Amino acid sequence: MTDASRSARFNGSSSVWLFLLLTVSLICCSEEGESNVELDRASAEALLFEWTKSPGLRAHARAVEAALCAYAKKYGEDEALWGVTGLLHDMDYEKHPSPEEHPETGCAVLREAGYPEEMIQAILGHAQYLNVPRETRLAQALFAVDELVGLITAVALVNPAKDIRQVKPRSIRKKWKDKNFAKGVNRADVELGASELGVPLEEHVAFTLEAMQGAAEDLGLDGSRSG
Ligand SMILES: [Fe+2]
Repeated sequence: MTDASRSARFNGSSSVWLFLLLTVSLICCSEEGESNVELDRASAEALLFEWTKSPGLRAHARAVEAALCAYAKKYGEDEALWGVTGLLHDMDYEKHPSPEEHPETGCAVLREAGYPEEMIQAILGHAQYLNVPRETRLAQALFAVDELVGLITAVALVNPAKDIRQVKPRSIRKKWKDKNFAKGVNRADVELGASELGVPLEEHVAFTLEAMQGAAEDLGLDGSRSG
């Protein structure tokens, strides 16, 4: 046997071992309850649209997605997982808004569809009344941005041009203190979320604003609604 053919046989058997190793790894992952669904944005958006018709709720989902994608990038986490979690975290809210049903109805659908448990636990954790501990950074980030994107959106909509790219962090700070502005936004939840995430509140607000500014067109906050 020549050196070349010995090397070819060695490479061939290495490939077989590598294939077997990968197969065993994949089987082990699925036995441990890992996701068996593609975390692609198009499928997640289709699911969101199937459940949610309100343009405002769809925009909220996109805003949370933008903020979570930015945080995933900052922390070197899985952007696809974080983004899809943002998109789908309130998918059942339009049909099942009561605390008895939201977000558990949506989580049951997501679990059945094979979405990862980390995502489902994060979605459960963003509903304070369920008392599900926010043990992962994803869960903490989702809770931290959920209410905040509502306040930032409200500030962008009172901007004369309705363009979020013109909004400064100081405008958010000013409206933060005005308890009559966007009354539904729970400021205490945002403060708690930022502290769980370990980010100073002002930094968290500026970071989330910047993430939303990067998605201005997608959020309908690019000035196209003015006039
Ligand atoms: Fe939400």
